[in-house]
Amino acid sequence: MFDLIVKNAALPNGRTGLDIACKGGTIAAVEPGISAEAREVIDAAGYLVSPPFVDPHFHMDATLSLGTPRMNVSGTLLEGISLWGELKTQQGIDDIIDRALRYCDLAVSMGIGAIRSHVDTCDADLKGVQALLEVRAQVRDYIDLQLVAFPQDGVLRDPEALQTTLRALDMGVDVVGGIPHFERTMADGAQSVRLLCEIAAERGLMVDMHCDESDDPLSRHIETLAYETQRLGLQGRVTGSHLTSMHSMDNYYVSKLIPLMAEAGVNSIPNPLINIMLQGRHDTYPKRRGQTRVRELRDAGIPVGFGSDCVMDPWYSMGRADMLDVAFMGLHVGQLSSRADMAWCFDAVTENSARIMGLEGYGLDTGCAADLVVLQARDKIEAIRLRAHRLAVVRKGNVIARNAPVVTDLALRGRPATLDPAAYAPTTDTA
Ligand code: FE2
Repeated sequence: MFDLIVKNAALPNGRTGLDIACKGGTIAAVEPGISAEAREVIDAAGYLVSPPFVDPHFHMDATLSLGTPRMNVSGTLLEGISLWGELKTQQGIDDIIDRALRYCDLAVSMGIGAIRSHVDTCDADLKGVQALLEVRAQVRDYIDLQLVAFPQDGVLRDPEALQTTLRALDMGVDVVGGIPHFERTMADGAQSVRLLCEIAAERGLMVDMHCDESDDPLSRHIETLAYETQRLGLQGRVTGSHLTSMHSMDNYYVSKLIPLMAEAGVNSIPNPLINIMLQGRHDTYPKRRGQTRVRELRDAGIPVGFGSDCVMDPWYSMGRADMLDVAFMGLHVGQLSSRADMAWCFDAVTENSARIMGLEGYGLDTGCAADLVVLQARDKIEAIRLRAHRLAVVRKGNVIARNAPVVTDLALRGRPATLDPAAYAPTTDTA
């Protein structure tokens, strides 16, 4: 007797007509025509069943704060930064917990199963850290929340930041963060990378830095991050987030840089929604795109995961916890329009990000965690095109969110009546 069987699923690898049986919180079998009994059966009706979405870059201490204490009227980064300064002094721990839990509810409804959130450690009281540690514990059964100690005002630029960041790590924050391009000088930026990587090496932690989130082609802290990764033996455990300056860098320099990153085993996390919005703001026309060199990084063998970064906070008024919105934007900005590239954008918000976060038991193989999302789409490309409706979200073999399929009843004279948006999927596509 299984706990759950999902019948007639299409898988992200292109296989179709499969049943997925779950027992004791893990996937017990993936094969056609499983006839055994189960406590619950879901008919996927040929739709795509995926492991959960993974958001590898987020700011949960700021999310859903839009309008508090006032709106970002100009919609600019600078007003967002000053707003965050105001909000930080005014918000209490309970406010942060309340907003973060509401965001996690939304994330679950959208099929997100894991989030890596940066948390600002430039605060003597570490309110964000206290709040998100509590949230991490409260959501443990349904979201893997990984926290990054993020000295947002610069670990060297803010005289208190090193001590508060170390305290945050002592309190149980998982990953070491940083923001080298925000330090006062290039030399300080490089020094901050060294310092923070050494802290991670001493403590056996991963690193994820906001790195070169700038249009300045000479912002090259990713080079130092790759160097320190190799020097300290941190291969596979270090991530450069944003990396937008790489968009503007000299091509000859990048031809040296990307192989160095690959050699060092550094991961990368572009954040297409926020960076297409905020980067290139000093340009008139032509305007640069706010995304790093995704195709080139991927083709060099560097793991690339797309993050959402912000939802309704001082920096970004949009967002709805939809990783398919993120993939959709990443696809367009990166001109990733071949069949293989479009399908890969789905991987960037699922398996690639899971690998970067080091999630265990992620996937659809027998023995993996029974964490699934049933999408109203036939394949990965269709899921991105439609930002597909989540029909069911399963965690450890239990259905934790459910939606009826979206269909539209037409009342047109002489035309048939019911429209399923996924009915337009190409029938020959196996991507
Ligand atoms: Fe960020």
